Amino acid sequence: MHADGRQPGSLPPPRSPDARAPLSREMLAAAEAVTDLLAGHRLPDALAARTASLPPASRAPARDMAYRTVRRLGSLQALVALLNTRRPLPRMAALQLVALAQLLEPMRPPAIVVDQAVAAARSLSRGPGGGAASFLNATLRRFVREREALLAAIADDPVARFDHPDWWLERLREAYPDAWESIARAGAVQAPLVLRVNRRRTDPDAYAERLRAAGLGARRVGPEAFALDEATPVERVPGFAQGEVSVQDAGAQLAAHLLDLAPGQRVLDACAAPGGKACHALELADVDLTAIDLDPERCRRIEDNLARCGLPAGAGSVRVLAADAARPAGWWDGRPYDRILLDAPCSASGIVRRHPDVRWLRRRGDIATLAIQQLRLLEALWPLLGPNGKFLYVTCSVFPDEGEAVVQRFVRDRADAVRTPLEWVWPDGRGEPVAQLLPQSGPTREHDGFFYASLTKRQ
Ligand SMILES: C[S@@+](CC[C@H](N)C(=O)[O-])C[C@H]1O[C@@H](n2cnc3c(N)ncnc32)[C@H](O)[C@@H]1O
Repeated sequence: MHADGRQPGSLPPPRSPDARAPLSREMLAAAEAVTDLLAGHRLPDALAARTASLPPASRAPARDMAYRTVRRLGSLQALVALLNTRRPLPRMAALQLVALAQLLEPMRPPAIVVDQAVAAARSLSRGPGGGAASFLNATLRRFVREREALLAAIADDPVARFDHPDWWLERLREAYPDAWESIARAGAVQAPLVLRVNRRRTDPDAYAERLRAAGLGARRVGPEAFALDEATPVERVPGFAQGEVSVQDAGAQLAAHLLDLAPGQRVLDACAAPGGKACHALELADVDLTAIDLDPERCRRIEDNLARCGLPAGAGSVRVLAADAARPAGWWDGRPYDRILLDAPCSASGIVRRHPDVRWLRRRGDIATLAIQQLRLLEALWPLLGPNGKFLYVTCSVFPDEGEAVVQRFVRDRADAVRTPLEWVWPDGRGEPVAQLLPQSGPTREHDGFFYASLTKRQ
C-alpha cells in the first residue's frame, strides 16, 4: 500500500490545477532566480526558466518571493554581512536572501519560513554545499531573535536604507541635491498596475464603470490611464484580452499625446518594441506609422500587441520592421516623416518601481555608453524629419546624462533644431511644463520617471 492509501501499481490521482508545491520548493525556485540575477541575468528571464517546472499555481508565489527579495536587496545584503561568518555558496546565499526577505516583511509566521527554508536547504545540501542547512537555520533564527538590533545596525547604511547601489545614489545626489532621497524611496516601492484605455474600442468613463462593476478599485491618472488599487493579474482585468485596455505606465502615456498627432501624418517610432507607445498613437489618430526595433523577437511583441488592440483601426496603416534605427540607409524609403518618436534605449533608471532588477544589473559605466548611443540615434534619425516636423526624444531614465545632456549636446551645433517647450495637464487640472518627470505616487499623479524633449525642424 502507498502512503496515500493507493494499491501498489495504481496511478496517483490527477493533480488539481490549483495544487501548489510545498513552500520550500517555491522558495528554492525563487532562490535560483535570484542566483541568476546576481550572476547578471534579468529577473523576468531567470524566473521564466526557474519556475517552469513548478505547478502553475506555484509560479506567482515564487515570482513574488523573488521580486520581494530583489526590491530589498540592499538591506538584505547588509544584513547577511552581519549574520554570516563565512560566505555561503551562491545558491545557498540566494536562499538565505529569499528567506530573510520573507522574514523582513512578515507575510507568514516566521517559524514556517525558517522551517521551509531549512527544508529547501536540505535538498540543496545533497549536492555541493552540504551541511549548509544548519548554517541557514542558525542565521535565520538569529535574525528572528535579534531583528530590531540588526535592523538598527544597518539603518545608517544608505544602500540598505534606500535599497539602491551606492554609485546610483551618488548620481542621484549629484543630479538632485534636494530630491534624491524621495526619488530613491519612490524607486524602491512596487508600482501599481496602470492601464491604458483603447479609445478605438471603449471610452475611459465607460471603462471606469466596468472596473467598478468588476469590483476593481482604481483612480484616473491620465486621459486614458487608470491605476488599480490592488495588484491584479491581467487575466482578471476586464477587456484586456479583447484589447480594450493595455498595461502601460501613465508617464509613458504622455508620449502619444505630446507627439501632437493628426490624421494622415507619416510617423516613425524608431525604437518601438514592445509597441506600447506605437499602439497608443494608433489608438489616438489615423496615422501612417512605421515601427522599428533592432530586436526581431521583440518586433513580434509589437505585432502581437497591434493584433490584440485591433490596430490599425481607422484610416491609418502600420509597418513593423526589424532594423537598426541608427542606420536608416538600410530601411528608409526617402520620404520625410512628420513625426519621429525616439524612445531611446536607456538605463531604465526611471522604471525601477516595476523592474527592481535593473538597479542591481546596471553598472556605473553604462550611463556614459548609453548617452553615446542615444546621441548617435538622434543624429542618425534627424535627417528623416520633414520641415516643421516634430521629433520627440524620450527615455525612461532619471539620469540627466541620458536626457537633458543628450538634447543640449544635439541642439548645440544644429541651426535647424528648435527645442519646443512641452506642457501636460494632470488629472487634477493643473498644467505644468514637462521635461524630466520623476517617479511619484499620489492620488492624481502616479507615474514612473521619464525624460521628454520635443524638437521642431526649421524650414
Ligand atoms: C525603451 S524600449 C522601447 C519601448 C517602446 N517604445 C514602447 O513604448 O513599448 C527601447 C527599445 O529600443 C530597441 N533598440 C535598441 N537599439 C536600437 C536600434 N539601434 N535600433 C532600433 N531599436 C533599437 C530595443 O530593442 C528596445 O526594444
